[in-house]
Amino acid sequence: MAKKSIQIVEPKGRLGVLIPGMGAVATTFIAGVEAIRRQLGRPFGSLTQMGTIRLGKRTEKRTPRIKDFIPLAELDDLIFAGWDLFRDNCYEAALKAGVLERSLLDQVKDFLSQIRPLPAVFEQKYVKNLHGENVKKGKTKMDLAHQLMDDIQQFKKSTGVSRLVMIWCASTETFLKAGAVHQNLAAFEKGLRSNNPDIAPSMIYAYAALKLGVPFANGAPNLTVDIPALRELALRNGVPICGKDFKTGQTLMKTIIAPGLKARLLGLHGWFSTNILGNRDGEVLDDPGSFRTKEESKLSVLEYILQPELYPELYKGFCHKVRINYYPPRGDNKEGWDNLDIFGWLGYPMQIKIDFLCRDSILAAPLVLDLVLFLDLAQRCPVMARKGIQEWLSFYFKSPMCAPNLYPEHDLFIQLMKLKNTLRHLRGQELITHLGLEYYD
Ligand SMILES: NC(=O)c1ccc[n+]([C@@H]2O[C@H](COP(=O)([O-])OP(=O)(O)OC[C@H]3O[C@@H](n4cnc5c(N)ncnc54)[C@H](O)[C@@H]3O)[C@@H](O)[C@H]2O)c1
Repeated sequence: MAKKSIQIVEPKGRLGVLIPGMGAVATTFIAGVEAIRRQLGRPFGSLTQMGTIRLGKRTEKRTPRIKDFIPLAELDDLIFAGWDLFRDNCYEAALKAGVLERSLLDQVKDFLSQIRPLPAVFEQKYVKNLHGENVKKGKTKMDLAHQLMDDIQQFKKSTGVSRLVMIWCASTETFLKAGAVHQNLAAFEKGLRSNNPDIAPSMIYAYAALKLGVPFANGAPNLTVDIPALRELALRNGVPICGKDFKTGQTLMKTIIAPGLKARLLGLHGWFSTNILGNRDGEVLDDPGSFRTKEESKLSVLEYILQPELYPELYKGFCHKVRINYYPPRGDNKEGWDNLDIFGWLGYPMQIKIDFLCRDSILAAPLVLDLVLFLDLAQRCPVMARKGIQEWLSFYFKSPMCAPNLYPEHDLFIQLMKLKNTLRHLRGQELITHLGLEYYD
């Protein structure tokens, strides 16, 4: 029986997409949206654009497209702005990133060249391998936060957008553990005023967004918005947040395969993963500090999915290694190898080898689009917005944010079910349990 649907404000007017970091992922996303708007390409990989959702019983045959089922912003309504420490406009940055072909970029050059990055909030110690000149100056980190807020308000005024979303697509910052300054909002704001060294640039962007009521998604593994102080601000202002680290490439494969091994109770002795990639992201990750942030994000996935504490005979003490090698000739076309040493009936060993020739930003761009549209949806739905963390968006992340007393859900299939059931819940539709006994009465 259908329940009452939850109030969602209609998406009237245009939606501003604010992006710190206009590199490979951001430009592939922006150029892609424009190419799709001009019917030069299709939005493969995007759940909001191509996905469907089953409603009611299988016999009812009701399976609308997600975008027809919930009120999402239209692609035509998206308008972009961003920050970067390099001055290249979006066309130049996309050419340098080398993901999309020049022949496609040239067809949207007029649009892309108009998008010029604003000066970034940047601190060398957080991204050691980059040196750019398009950087804001300010006496304190609080000054810098105010400059970002001015940028946002100026963009809103000059474009007339009715709503905004911010999504971090900038480089991975060096490894940082939450410390005293991150524990509550008062300490954090004091730290901004006193230039506390533990406040990373990404946190300053997130603070500026949340202060202005702008939802924030974190596409990198940095702590950023995943600290008590910024969760407090999100709750206080009723702003949706989510993160961390887009789930693409090798980790996507892990969260597809590991649930299958566990479902069949096949054991694991070890999982060795190595990558070669040659884009700027790879260059940044060549620094041990930035790599450590990424490594933590990549390593936790298997532990959570396989639950060694529940299945010690199958998974206790399995060996898990992840390597990332910066290898410039490959550019954005990463190659990821996995070797899995598994065992089955009576302990007999077997192996699985995966060689994934993927394109990082091609996998990431549709995630950026979905996150932008879903975060905007959450902001227009007061019941969702006031919860702060949007755990139903775990589907998109390597290290999903969740309430402090929970463990994150990593299994891609549970994540998808959670996402779709959340949409059903918002629209007052029955949740799908897959019980199905009634068909046999
Ligand atoms: N491509 C993927 O599949 C994928 C998957 C998961 C996570 N990520 C993460 O997404 C982020 C972007 O990846 P990418 O391939 O586009 O990298 P990229 O190096 O091409 O782009 C990042 C951009 O951020 C800029 N930048 C760095 N610090 C900044 C700051 N403080 N303010 C503004 N700009 C800043 C850099 O100058 C660069 O242009 C990285 O953190 C990466 O780890 C990417």
